[in-house]
Amino acid sequence: MAQPLRVAFYGAGQVATNVSELLRRRPGVEVLGPYGRDERESALRSGADVVVIATTSFLAEIADDVRDAVEAGSNVITTAEEAAYPWANDAAVADRLDELARERGVSILGAGLNPGFAFDALVLTVCGVVPEVESLLVERVVDLSGFGEAVLRRIGVGHSPESFVEGRRAGTVTGHIGFPQSMNVVAGRLGVEIERIDRELEPLYADVQLAASSLTVAPGQTAGFRQRYTAVSHGRVWFEALFTGHIAPEALGTAPRDAITVRGPHEVHVEAIPGLNPQIGSASIVANSIRRVVAARPGWVTVGELPPAVPV
Ligand SMILES: NC(=O)c1ccc[n+]([C@@H]2O[C@H](COP(=O)([O-])OP(=O)(O)OC[C@H]3O[C@@H](n4cnc5c(N)ncnc54)[C@H](OP(=O)(O)O)[C@@H]3O)[C@@H](O)[C@H]2O)c1
Repeated sequence: MAQPLRVAFYGAGQVATNVSELLRRRPGVEVLGPYGRDERESALRSGADVVVIATTSFLAEIADDVRDAVEAGSNVITTAEEAAYPWANDAAVADRLDELARERGVSILGAGLNPGFAFDALVLTVCGVVPEVESLLVERVVDLSGFGEAVLRRIGVGHSPESFVEGRRAGTVTGHIGFPQSMNVVAGRLGVEIERIDRELEPLYADVQLAASSLTVAPGQTAGFRQRYTAVSHGRVWFEALFTGHIAPEALGTAPRDAITVRGPHEVHVEAIPGLNPQIGSASIVANSIRRVVAARPGWVTVGELPPAVPV
């Protein structure tokens, strides 16, 4: 009988818990962990076929963890949003880890629902049915009420107007991270050169008290935000990303949805209603990436070059 695929988890939060539970029910997979901060070595030095790093969003904070897992001979999947296309953040770190992974014959993948699917892999799939792409519009409305408190505060929920502005200034309030990464993944596959990416982030304040599963928002505090990122190529908007995240989207008169419009000589519009569920979607796509990361070429790969994730 074939050996089970060994998968170790670093980070003992929502994503690692959900993915490890999902994989424990899957035949042919042995799950190690999830391991928290004080069991770092058990996760990263396990030599598992795949190490899943689900800790933070930032390349700088996962780089040493990725290095240690790769040095121990493991393929790595990380949910850090910046890892979906690490060259957008720090090309030197990305190149160094890419080279290390090639030397060791393993792959590194930044995976998740967003980035990793909604604004990139799915967009590329839709582009497959048109003869030519002139521009892209991708819209997503997300119900944030199921997110953990640390993630909510970091993306910008539960703040007074002052702490939101101060957090933006200090870099501790980021909005959703991942649009430049998704845009670069799509641009890379379509052979588009991005000149610049313009970014807007607008807080949305609660009129009444609203409750998420991990925190309560008082009237006057942020209950969500709107983001608009536009990638410009050849002097015109090539990729427009509109994102609304809110702990009670119905209070805005809206509802979770995903929509992709591919503009060109033959326009295509695809919608998912209700929108892709952030918790189930993220956990599934990470679990469903285990086998494709093992099969991928060595080095730091992106979802733009891998086959679709499927539940096997
Ligand atoms: N690409 C995607 O689509 C996608 C999807 C889901 C999540 N994510 C990202 O993945 C990350 C994990 O998400 P989550 O929902 O599981 O978060 P979470 O519930 O807050 O859990 C994070 C876990 O990682 C630990 N941790 C945080 N910072 C760490 C660090 N610098 N070093 C070591 N451990 C650290 C935390 O430990 P403590 O409790 O001790 O702090 C906790 O165990 C977040 O950054 C989130 O934004 C991305």
